[in-house]
Amino acid sequence: MAPLSRIGGRALADLLPDLRTMPGPVYSALAHGITSLVLDGRIATETRLPSERELAASLHISRATVTAAYDALRSEGFLASRTGSGSYVTVPAGSQPRPALARWTTRSNEAADVIDLSCAALPAPPDLLPGAMSAAAARLGPYLLGDGYDPAGLPVLREAVAARFTGRGVPTRPEQILVTNGALHGLDLLLRLLLGPGDRAITELPTYPGALDAIRANGGRVVPVPMAPEGGWQVGQLQAGLRQTAARLAFLTPDFHNPTGALVPEAHRREVLAVARQTGTTVVVDESFVDLGFRGNERPTAGIDSSVITVGSLSKAVWGGLRIGWLRASTDLVHRLAALRTSIDMGSPVLEQVVAASLVEQLDDIAARRVAELVPQRDALVAALAQHLPDWRVTVPEGGLSLWAELSSPLSTPLSMLAAQAGVVVVPGSRFGVDGTLERFLRLPYSLPADRLAEAVRRLAGVWAQLDGSGLAARQLVVA
Ligand SMILES: Cc1ncc(COP(=O)(O)O)c(C=O)c1O
Repeated sequence: MAPLSRIGGRALADLLPDLRTMPGPVYSALAHGITSLVLDGRIATETRLPSERELAASLHISRATVTAAYDALRSEGFLASRTGSGSYVTVPAGSQPRPALARWTTRSNEAADVIDLSCAALPAPPDLLPGAMSAAAARLGPYLLGDGYDPAGLPVLREAVAARFTGRGVPTRPEQILVTNGALHGLDLLLRLLLGPGDRAITELPTYPGALDAIRANGGRVVPVPMAPEGGWQVGQLQAGLRQTAARLAFLTPDFHNPTGALVPEAHRREVLAVARQTGTTVVVDESFVDLGFRGNERPTAGIDSSVITVGSLSKAVWGGLRIGWLRASTDLVHRLAALRTSIDMGSPVLEQVVAASLVEQLDDIAARRVAELVPQRDALVAALAQHLPDWRVTVPEGGLSLWAELSSPLSTPLSMLAAQAGVVVVPGSRFGVDGTLERFLRLPYSLPADRLAEAVRRLAGVWAQLDGSGLAARQLVVA
């Protein structure tokens, strides 16, 4: 098996801290620097490292020093070699992430004083759905005369979704829309159709864990491409990933990405799409959060290149419990997906589709009310973190439902375990990556009222103080 991608000497040198400022001999500083980059998800596992000679030249150090660093990495389980494939980074056996939280288990947080920040999703907007449901029920009569099975979706909803795309500058016919049971369902259907065993699928690192699981469940190999430390895409790395791996598909979330909240500028989308066209990679864009922008949006990705497949849903702007989403693709692909669907679930529920058709028409207003609630919640979370956990680094998101905090030590999993005991449920950073990396990060949704968020941060700060003083932080830094 060949490594998934490679990093050059100059690119690696740019990511490393100044080795002279690090304690200990240069070779061990280099080994630690590379280990930290892997564990923080800044270099994806299975990335091939530059040759010793190339890295030595880029860092202006001796080749023997790089050899010693690579030997140290190898002995600690962070570097492996295959004949003909060079040396590629990996993580020691046993550090794979555990599913942090089983959403399929019944939750009973209501009883105890538990603050649940495990999900980037909101309760339904007050008062909206009961009225919408009653109005839809009153319009149900004609539908009841049919058999109720419509694998591509009810025309009324396909029309409403198509009109919304068209209104956003992405001309779309209703036949290009497949109604799904949520955005994840749309992605899964696509993966079933397009991905063969062992096919590679590029994702951002970090990314939505449901997408990672869906790619793997469909036999794909995830090729994670690290996002920029300040948020957004590293265009060069995405382009290199596309060129080097012949990926069948790229799953990307440029509009208020989960977990970082990043919004990718149009120019970066164009540059990545241009290379995906050359490599024949199908680009799937997830617009789950697109309506939750705090300061406007970028041009829709499918408006830049109409061959981009878009998945979206009402789950984030309205309510996940509706289980209504959509997929925009070519008419031909929509036909094939609808046909595939007849062996899976036969279609989405009719009443919810009728409800959704009217909600899609009101989406701008609904989303504007959401945003008006979310901005003070985001600000409250950021302020509480600055007050109680000033050593954590936070980039203030411009939209979406969560922020991605960088902890001062790579202790996200122990933190989440202790936090659960203190009554705060959070998902550790490693769940948003592959191979147990991203332990230095924590996703924090601002989906609760400001006072609950402030209380959650107070509890997390208490737990963090225990962890920081436990010596675990120091030990982890040595291993990591
Ligand atoms: C990026 C992303 N896509 C899809 C989903 C799932 O959406 P849906 O409920 O529409 O299936 C989520 C939920 O968190 C998400 O964050």
